[in-house]
Amino acid sequence: MSNAPHINIDLASFQADPYPALKQMRRQAPIAFVPQLGSTVFTRRDDIFSEEKRIDVFSSHQPAGLMNRLMGHNMMRKDGEPHMSERAAMFPAVSPRTVREVWRRQFQAHADRILDELAPHGRADLCKAFALPLSAECLKDITGLTNMRYQDMDAWSQAMIDGIANYTGNAEVEARCHAATAGIDAAIDDMIPVLRKHPNASILSVLLAAGMRDESVRANVKLAISGGQNEPRDAISGTIWALLTHPAQLALVRDGGAKWIDVFEEYARWIAPIGMSPRRVARPYRYGGVDFEPEDRVFFMFGSANRDEACFADPDSFDITRDTSKSIAFGAGPHYCAGAFASRAMVADVALPGIFARLRGLRLDDSEPVRIGGWAFRGLLNLPVMWDAA
Ligand code: HEM
Repeated sequence: MSNAPHINIDLASFQADPYPALKQMRRQAPIAFVPQLGSTVFTRRDDIFSEEKRIDVFSSHQPAGLMNRLMGHNMMRKDGEPHMSERAAMFPAVSPRTVREVWRRQFQAHADRILDELAPHGRADLCKAFALPLSAECLKDITGLTNMRYQDMDAWSQAMIDGIANYTGNAEVEARCHAATAGIDAAIDDMIPVLRKHPNASILSVLLAAGMRDESVRANVKLAISGGQNEPRDAISGTIWALLTHPAQLALVRDGGAKWIDVFEEYARWIAPIGMSPRRVARPYRYGGVDFEPEDRVFFMFGSANRDEACFADPDSFDITRDTSKSIAFGAGPHYCAGAFASRAMVADVALPGIFARLRGLRLDDSEPVRIGGWAFRGLLNLPVMWDAA
């Protein structure tokens, strides 16, 4: 175990709002061992930015990890060439060009259809009625699993996330995860012959075309599902909420003084949808006054990095005019999010302009409080709103 100073947290408070504890760690012990997480956590942005690239020490290869066991061995749990070759195979499906030329139009069509149905209602929980189906419909296209229901995309993504965080071995959680992966495998089985006959730009199709082994294809499609549903979903609802609670900033965008992409980048900095990424220490190493030992578990805390006062002035405030270039919401190393371009298009090009153009007079429904939670994954749990349906 590393000899980093111990910092105790209250898990329930950390889940509700991790930022005060992370601030304390950045100040007192920027590399700290947190017994309640069983892990040594990096909390300062510049430390994470440099050390995440040191893959000979902070390895993604975690053979005994729950992700490998439950979802198969995907690129996110590999280092070096094995990682890069699988990433390169996926790239044609998620490249800026494919996003621009293929996905953006399809994302727009999904948003238009969902908003057509929603607009007459006048009130809704936008998490459930807009962010969830839009994110899931887009992910069906990107993965190639257009034969799934959007509800299953969301539920199975969550079941896998819960499964790989199930450190206490809860049998029910594990069973739900197995059911989800079985459902995804069945969807893949159905789509393989279709995509072999009619290849397209989807992840499943490009991985098959690249000749990737069947078990790796399945593992990487599952990775895209576990990593590609709740983050755009939470970013869509979160950005809408941030603008509704900061009307001057919404006015700035409407007047052309800022762009929707500024809203997305600042939101992802302010409330990083993925708060941390885990690593396994591969060899003895000393950094920042801390000795690390092989098999130590390390968490790179992106959610803390993005509020590091050394890099961002007044970091707890939401300000779309700030320079977000130091944000590491999508990571800071070779595992930089493969879906970053698609997410930017989904949220900034499609979701935000669409919702604020179509739902006139959009405002919070104050009869129900907005709830927000999580530290490893953080996002709104509901977004009750009203608008002028006529
Ligand atoms: C707002 C939306 C999103 C955020 C904030 C986000 C964030 C992240 C983060 C923090 C990582 C880990 C980076 C690291 O450890 O350095 C990651 C990895 C990844 N993400 Fe995303 N993600 C988003 C959307 C998506 C989408 C839509 C997809 C679907 C294609 C996706 C696919 C992936 C994949 C495949 C990886 C692993 C990349 C690798 O191992 O090389 N993500 N993402």
